[in-house]
Amino acid sequence: MWALLLLLPTVLCLSPAGPPQERTPLFRLTQQGPWESGASNGTASPCEGLPLAGATTLTLVNRSLERLPGCLPRALRRLDGSHNLLGALSAPELGHLPQLEELTLRHNRIAALRWGPGWPAGLRTLDLSYNRLAALPPCGGPALPSLRALALAGNPLQALQPGAFSCFPALRLLNLSCTALGRGPQAGITDAAFAGAGGAPLAALEVLDLSGTFLPRVHSGWIRDLPKLTSLYLRKMPQLTSLEGDIFKMTPDLQQLDCQDSPALTSVHTHIFQDTPHLQVLLLQKPSASLSKISCPFRRIFLYA
Ligand SMILES: *[C@@H]1O[C@H](CO)[C@@H](O)[C@H](O)[C@H]1NC(C)=O
Ligand SMILES: *[C@@H]1O[C@H](CO)[C@@H](O)[C@H](O)[C@H]1NC(C)=O
Ligand SMILES: *[C@@H]1O[C@H](CO)[C@@H](O)[C@H](O)[C@H]1NC(C)=O
Repeated sequence: MWALLLLLPTVLCLSPAGPPQERTPLFRLTQQGPWESGASNGTASPCEGLPLAGATTLTLVNRSLERLPGCLPRALRRLDGSHNLLGALSAPELGHLPQLEELTLRHNRIAALRWGPGWPAGLRTLDLSYNRLAALPPCGGPALPSLRALALAGNPLQALQPGAFSCFPALRLLNLSCTALGRGPQAGITDAAFAGAGGAPLAALEVLDLSGTFLPRVHSGWIRDLPKLTSLYLRKMPQLTSLEGDIFKMTPDLQQLDCQDSPALTSVHTHIFQDTPHLQVLLLQKPSASLSKISCPFRRIFLYA
Protein backbone atom coordinates (compact mmCIF):
# COMPACT_ATOMS: atom_id res chain seq x y z
CA MET A 1 0.00 0.00 0.00
CA TRP A 2 2.68 2.48 0.98
CA ALA A 3 4.49 1.71 -2.22
CA LEU A 4 2.01 4.04 -3.84
CA LEU A 5 3.19 6.95 -1.79
CA LEU A 6 6.35 8.68 -2.80
CA LEU A 7 7.98 10.46 0.07
CA LEU A 8 9.34 13.47 -1.67
CA PRO A 9 10.11 16.47 0.51
CA THR A 10 11.40 18.19 -2.60
CA VAL A 11 7.86 18.98 -3.65
CA LEU A 12 8.19 21.91 -1.30
CA CYS A 13 10.06 23.58 -4.09
CA LEU A 14 7.16 23.41 -6.47
CA SER A 15 5.74 26.84 -7.02
CA PRO A 16 1.98 26.92 -7.39
CA ALA A 17 2.20 29.97 -9.52
CA GLY A 18 4.57 28.50 -12.05
CA PRO A 19 7.42 30.52 -13.43
CA PRO A 20 7.19 34.19 -12.58
CA GLN A 21 5.97 36.26 -15.46
CA GLU A 22 8.43 38.49 -17.19
CA ARG A 23 7.46 42.09 -17.01
CA THR A 24 9.58 44.33 -19.14
CA PRO A 25 8.44 47.91 -19.00
CA LEU A 26 9.22 49.81 -22.16
CA PHE A 27 10.35 52.60 -19.96
CA ARG A 28 10.03 53.66 -16.41
CA LEU A 29 9.08 57.07 -15.14
CA THR A 30 12.04 58.38 -13.27
CA GLN A 31 11.14 62.02 -12.86
CA GLN A 32 11.17 63.17 -9.28
CA GLY A 33 9.23 66.12 -7.98
CA PRO A 34 5.49 66.43 -7.61
CA TRP A 35 5.03 62.69 -8.13
CA GLU A 36 6.82 62.00 -4.93
CA SER A 37 5.98 65.04 -2.91
CA GLY A 38 3.28 63.06 -1.13
CA ALA A 39 1.17 66.20 -1.06
CA SER A 40 0.19 66.11 -4.72
CA ASN A 41 -3.42 66.67 -5.62
CA GLY A 42 -3.81 63.25 -7.10
CA THR A 43 -4.65 63.25 -10.78
CA ALA A 44 -3.03 66.62 -11.22
CA SER A 45 0.33 64.99 -11.78
CA PRO A 46 2.35 66.63 -14.49
CA CYS A 47 2.63 64.17 -17.32
CA GLU A 48 3.86 66.94 -19.60
CA GLY A 49 7.36 66.46 -20.79
CA LEU A 50 7.29 62.73 -20.33
CA PRO A 51 7.52 60.53 -23.40
CA LEU A 52 4.14 59.04 -22.77
CA ALA A 53 2.20 59.35 -25.98
CA GLY A 54 2.80 55.95 -27.57
CA ALA A 55 3.62 54.03 -24.41
CA THR A 56 1.84 50.73 -23.96
CA THR A 57 3.46 49.71 -20.69
CA LEU A 58 3.92 51.94 -17.70
CA THR A 59 5.23 51.43 -14.20
CA LEU A 60 4.16 53.93 -11.57
CA VAL A 61 5.22 52.07 -8.49
CA ASN A 62 5.68 53.70 -5.10
CA ARG A 63 4.83 57.28 -6.02
CA SER A 64 2.39 58.18 -3.28
CA LEU A 65 -0.41 58.35 -5.85
CA GLU A 66 -3.85 58.79 -4.36
CA ARG A 67 -5.52 58.48 -7.74
CA LEU A 68 -4.50 57.26 -11.15
CA PRO A 69 -3.23 60.23 -13.13
CA GLY A 70 -5.75 61.45 -15.69
CA CYS A 71 -3.09 62.04 -18.29
CA LEU A 72 -1.98 58.48 -18.94
CA PRO A 73 -1.57 57.52 -22.59
CA ARG A 74 -4.67 56.09 -24.22
CA ALA A 75 -2.61 53.35 -25.86
CA LEU A 76 -1.66 51.86 -22.51
CA ARG A 77 -2.03 48.09 -22.30
CA ARG A 78 -0.20 47.34 -19.08
CA LEU A 79 -0.13 49.52 -16.00
CA ASP A 80 1.56 48.74 -12.71
CA GLY A 81 0.59 51.16 -9.96
CA SER A 82 1.53 49.00 -7.02
CA HIS A 83 2.67 50.45 -3.69
CA ASN A 84 0.70 53.67 -3.85
CA LEU A 85 -2.12 55.22 -1.83
CA LEU A 86 -5.11 54.60 -4.08
CA GLY A 87 -8.27 54.32 -2.00
CA ALA A 88 -10.92 53.48 -4.58
CA LEU A 89 -11.29 52.19 -8.08
CA SER A 90 -14.17 52.51 -10.51
CA ALA A 91 -14.94 53.06 -14.17
CA PRO A 92 -14.37 56.84 -14.42
CA GLU A 93 -10.71 56.46 -13.57
CA LEU A 94 -10.20 53.75 -16.16
CA GLY A 95 -12.51 55.03 -18.88
CA HIS A 96 -9.69 56.90 -20.60
CA LEU A 97 -7.60 53.74 -20.89
CA PRO A 98 -9.67 51.77 -23.41
CA GLN A 99 -6.79 49.49 -24.46
CA LEU A 100 -5.86 48.38 -20.97
CA GLU A 101 -5.31 44.61 -20.66
CA GLU A 102 -3.34 44.26 -17.47
CA LEU A 103 -3.77 46.36 -14.34
CA THR A 104 -1.66 45.72 -11.28
CA LEU A 105 -2.46 47.67 -8.13
CA ARG A 106 -0.96 45.53 -5.41
CA HIS A 107 -0.34 47.10 -2.01
CA ASN A 108 -2.60 50.11 -2.26
CA ARG A 109 -5.43 51.12 0.10
CA ILE A 110 -8.35 50.30 -2.13
CA ALA A 111 -11.40 49.83 0.08
CA ALA A 112 -14.08 50.80 -2.41
CA LEU A 113 -14.55 49.17 -5.75
CA ARG A 114 -17.29 49.34 -8.33
CA TRP A 115 -17.69 47.06 -11.34
CA GLY A 116 -19.74 48.32 -14.20
CA PRO A 117 -19.83 49.71 -17.69
CA GLY A 118 -16.85 51.89 -18.45
CA TRP A 119 -14.18 49.44 -17.37
CA PRO A 120 -11.79 48.68 -20.25
CA ALA A 121 -13.57 45.93 -22.15
CA GLY A 122 -10.34 44.11 -22.98
CA LEU A 123 -8.99 43.92 -19.42
CA ARG A 124 -7.59 40.42 -18.95
CA THR A 125 -5.66 40.60 -15.71
CA LEU A 126 -6.55 42.55 -12.59
CA ASP A 127 -4.32 42.29 -9.55
CA LEU A 128 -5.72 43.97 -6.44
CA SER A 129 -3.76 41.91 -3.97
CA TYR A 130 -3.01 43.41 -0.58
CA ASN A 131 -5.58 46.17 -0.55
CA ARG A 132 -8.35 46.90 1.96
CA LEU A 133 -11.36 45.30 0.37
CA ALA A 134 -13.59 44.00 3.14
CA ALA A 135 -16.35 43.10 0.71
CA LEU A 136 -16.79 42.75 -3.01
CA PRO A 137 -19.27 44.93 -4.88
CA PRO A 138 -22.22 43.15 -6.43
CA CYS A 139 -21.81 42.04 -10.00
CA GLY A 140 -24.25 43.53 -12.47
CA GLY A 141 -24.03 42.36 -16.03
CA PRO A 142 -20.84 41.01 -17.60
CA ALA A 143 -18.85 44.07 -16.61
CA LEU A 144 -15.48 42.61 -17.59
CA PRO A 145 -16.14 40.08 -20.33
CA SER A 146 -12.46 39.40 -21.07
CA LEU A 147 -11.11 39.13 -17.54
CA ARG A 148 -9.07 35.94 -17.19
CA ALA A 149 -7.23 36.46 -13.92
CA LEU A 150 -8.41 38.21 -10.78
CA ALA A 151 -6.10 38.40 -7.78
CA LEU A 152 -7.59 39.51 -4.47
CA ALA A 153 -5.00 37.94 -2.20
CA GLY A 154 -4.37 39.58 1.15
CA ASN A 155 -7.60 41.59 1.29
CA PRO A 156 -9.70 41.47 4.49
CA LEU A 157 -12.58 39.73 2.71
CA GLN A 158 -14.56 37.66 5.18
CA ALA A 159 -17.37 36.43 3.00
CA LEU A 160 -18.43 35.97 -0.61
CA GLN A 161 -22.02 36.56 -1.63
CA PRO A 162 -23.85 34.50 -4.25
CA GLY A 163 -22.79 35.39 -7.77
CA ALA A 164 -19.82 37.41 -6.53
CA PHE A 165 -17.92 36.75 -9.77
CA SER A 166 -20.77 36.48 -12.23
CA CYS A 167 -19.63 39.56 -14.14
CA PHE A 168 -16.45 37.77 -15.22
CA PRO A 169 -17.68 35.01 -17.52
CA ALA A 170 -14.16 34.31 -18.89
CA LEU A 171 -12.43 34.10 -15.52
CA ARG A 172 -9.84 31.31 -15.38
CA LEU A 173 -7.77 32.12 -12.32
CA LEU A 174 -9.14 33.43 -9.06
CA ASN A 175 -6.74 34.11 -6.24
CA LEU A 176 -8.35 34.54 -2.83
CA SER A 177 -5.34 33.45 -0.81
CA CYS A 178 -4.59 35.14 2.50
CA THR A 179 -8.02 36.76 2.65
CA ALA A 180 -10.09 36.55 5.83
CA LEU A 181 -12.58 34.10 4.36
CA GLY A 182 -13.94 31.92 7.13
CA ARG A 183 -12.95 34.32 9.87
CA GLY A 184 -15.77 36.02 11.73
CA PRO A 185 -19.44 35.18 12.05
CA GLN A 186 -20.25 35.20 8.34
CA ALA A 187 -20.45 32.10 6.27
CA GLY A 188 -17.16 32.49 4.44
CA ILE A 189 -18.09 31.24 1.01
CA THR A 190 -21.84 30.99 0.65
CA ASP A 191 -23.47 28.46 -1.61
CA ALA A 192 -23.67 29.82 -5.15
CA ALA A 193 -20.82 32.26 -4.49
CA PHE A 194 -19.29 31.01 -7.73
CA ALA A 195 -22.49 30.90 -9.69
CA GLY A 196 -22.25 32.82 -12.93
CA ALA A 197 -24.82 34.90 -14.70
CA GLY A 198 -28.35 33.60 -14.30
CA GLY A 199 -27.19 30.94 -11.84
CA ALA A 200 -25.16 29.06 -14.47
CA PRO A 201 -21.75 27.77 -13.33
CA LEU A 202 -18.58 29.82 -13.61
CA ALA A 203 -17.67 27.71 -16.59
CA ALA A 204 -14.15 28.92 -17.42
CA LEU A 205 -12.55 28.87 -13.98
CA GLU A 206 -9.58 26.51 -13.82
CA VAL A 207 -7.46 27.67 -10.90
CA LEU A 208 -8.72 28.62 -7.44
CA ASP A 209 -6.38 29.58 -4.63
CA LEU A 210 -7.86 29.62 -1.12
CA SER A 211 -4.57 29.20 0.69
CA GLY A 212 -4.08 30.99 3.97
CA THR A 213 -7.81 31.42 4.56
CA PHE A 214 -9.75 30.27 7.61
CA LEU A 215 -12.24 28.02 5.90
CA PRO A 216 -12.82 24.80 7.82
CA ARG A 217 -13.93 22.81 4.80
CA VAL A 218 -14.75 22.66 1.13
CA HIS A 219 -18.49 22.67 0.51
CA SER A 220 -20.16 21.10 -2.48
CA GLY A 221 -22.59 24.04 -2.34
CA TRP A 222 -19.98 26.36 -3.84
CA ILE A 223 -17.47 24.11 -5.56
CA ARG A 224 -20.16 22.58 -7.73
CA ASP A 225 -20.25 25.81 -9.73
CA LEU A 226 -16.65 25.30 -10.92
CA PRO A 227 -17.00 22.46 -13.41
CA LYS A 228 -13.68 23.18 -15.19
CA LEU A 229 -11.55 23.41 -12.07
CA THR A 230 -8.13 21.82 -12.61
CA SER A 231 -6.08 23.21 -9.71
CA LEU A 232 -7.24 23.83 -6.17
CA TYR A 233 -4.85 25.33 -3.64
CA LEU A 234 -5.64 24.80 0.03
CA ARG A 235 -2.24 25.50 1.52
CA LYS A 236 -1.58 26.88 4.99
CA MET A 237 -5.20 26.78 6.07
CA PRO A 238 -5.11 26.54 9.86
CA GLN A 239 -8.72 25.45 10.27
CA LEU A 240 -9.07 23.01 7.44
CA THR A 241 -9.67 19.67 9.16
CA SER A 242 -11.21 17.32 6.65
CA LEU A 243 -12.03 16.71 3.03
CA GLU A 244 -15.07 14.56 2.64
CA GLY A 245 -18.44 14.12 1.00
CA ASP A 246 -19.19 14.55 -2.67
CA ILE A 247 -17.13 17.73 -2.93
CA PHE A 248 -15.46 16.77 -6.21
CA LYS A 249 -18.48 15.28 -7.88
CA MET A 250 -18.89 18.29 -10.17
CA THR A 251 -15.17 18.94 -10.77
CA PRO A 252 -14.09 15.87 -12.76
CA ASP A 253 -11.17 17.72 -14.40
CA LEU A 254 -9.30 18.31 -11.15
CA GLN A 255 -5.62 17.59 -11.74
CA GLN A 256 -3.91 19.17 -8.80
CA LEU A 257 -4.93 19.40 -5.15
CA ASP A 258 -2.40 21.16 -2.98
CA CYS A 259 -2.96 21.05 0.78
CA GLN A 260 0.60 21.59 1.91
CA ASP A 261 1.11 23.08 5.33
CA SER A 262 -2.52 22.80 6.39
CA PRO A 263 -1.66 21.35 9.78
CA ALA A 264 -5.14 20.42 11.01
CA LEU A 265 -6.04 18.41 7.94
CA THR A 266 -6.06 14.93 9.38
CA SER A 267 -9.02 13.36 7.66
CA VAL A 268 -9.11 12.89 3.93
CA HIS A 269 -11.80 10.48 2.87
CA THR A 270 -10.45 8.59 -0.06
CA HIS A 271 -13.78 8.12 -1.77
CA ILE A 272 -13.67 11.79 -2.74
CA PHE A 273 -11.03 10.78 -5.28
CA GLN A 274 -13.37 8.47 -7.09
CA ASP A 275 -14.74 11.62 -8.69
CA THR A 276 -11.37 12.91 -9.87
CA PRO A 277 -10.07 10.53 -12.53
CA HIS A 278 -7.53 13.06 -13.81
CA LEU A 279 -5.93 13.89 -10.48
CA GLN A 280 -2.17 13.87 -11.02
CA VAL A 281 -0.77 15.72 -8.08
CA LEU A 282 -1.93 15.50 -4.49
CA LEU A 283 0.12 17.34 -1.92
CA LEU A 284 -0.57 16.68 1.74
CA GLN A 285 1.03 17.58 5.00
CA LYS A 286 1.51 14.10 6.34
CA PRO A 287 0.17 10.61 6.03
CA SER A 288 -3.02 10.57 8.04
CA ALA A 289 -4.77 7.53 9.35
CA SER A 290 -7.55 7.66 6.83
CA LEU A 291 -5.16 8.22 3.99
CA SER A 292 -3.44 4.93 4.59
CA LYS A 293 -6.56 3.36 3.16
CA ILE A 294 -5.94 4.89 -0.23
CA SER A 295 -6.46 2.36 -2.95
CA CYS A 296 -6.92 4.44 -6.08
CA PRO A 297 -4.11 4.25 -8.62
CA PHE A 298 -2.89 7.83 -8.56
CA ARG A 299 -0.14 8.70 -10.89
CA ARG A 300 1.63 10.86 -8.36
CA ILE A 301 0.98 11.43 -4.71
CA PHE A 302 3.38 13.49 -2.72
CA LEU A 303 3.32 13.37 1.01
CA TYR A 304 5.76 14.98 3.29
CA ALA A 305 6.25 14.81 6.98
C1 LIG B 1 -1.95 33.85 -5.19
O1 LIG B 1 -1.38 35.05 -4.69
C2 LIG B 1 -0.31 34.85 -3.78
C3 LIG B 1 0.09 36.22 -3.28
O2 LIG B 1 0.37 37.09 -4.34
C4 LIG B 1 0.81 34.12 -4.50
O3 LIG B 1 1.86 33.88 -3.61
C5 LIG B 1 0.27 32.79 -5.04
O4 LIG B 1 1.29 32.14 -5.77
C6 LIG B 1 -0.92 33.04 -5.94
N1 LIG B 1 -1.51 31.75 -6.35
C7 LIG B 1 -1.63 31.37 -7.63
C8 LIG B 1 -2.26 30.05 -7.88
O5 LIG B 1 -1.23 32.05 -8.56
C1 LIG C 1 -3.32 71.33 -7.34
O1 LIG C 1 -3.72 71.99 -6.15
C2 LIG C 1 -3.31 73.34 -6.09
C3 LIG C 1 -3.66 73.89 -4.71
O2 LIG C 1 -4.91 73.43 -4.30
C4 LIG C 1 -3.98 74.15 -7.21
O3 LIG C 1 -3.56 75.49 -7.19
C5 LIG C 1 -3.59 73.52 -8.51
O4 LIG C 1 -4.26 74.17 -9.58
C6 LIG C 1 -3.93 72.06 -8.53
N1 LIG C 1 -3.43 71.50 -9.77
C7 LIG C 1 -4.23 70.98 -10.67
C8 LIG C 1 -3.57 70.60 -11.94
O5 LIG C 1 -5.40 70.76 -10.47
C1 LIG D 1 9.09 53.40 -1.65
O1 LIG D 1 9.98 54.52 -1.68
C2 LIG D 1 10.56 54.81 -0.43
C3 LIG D 1 11.36 56.09 -0.58
O2 LIG D 1 12.05 56.13 -1.77
C4 LIG D 1 11.42 53.64 0.00
O3 LIG D 1 12.00 53.90 1.25
C5 LIG D 1 10.53 52.40 0.10
O4 LIG D 1 11.31 51.28 0.41
C6 LIG D 1 9.81 52.16 -1.21
N1 LIG D 1 8.87 51.10 -1.02
C7 LIG D 1 8.69 50.13 -1.91
C8 LIG D 1 7.71 49.10 -1.57
O5 LIG D 1 9.32 50.08 -2.96
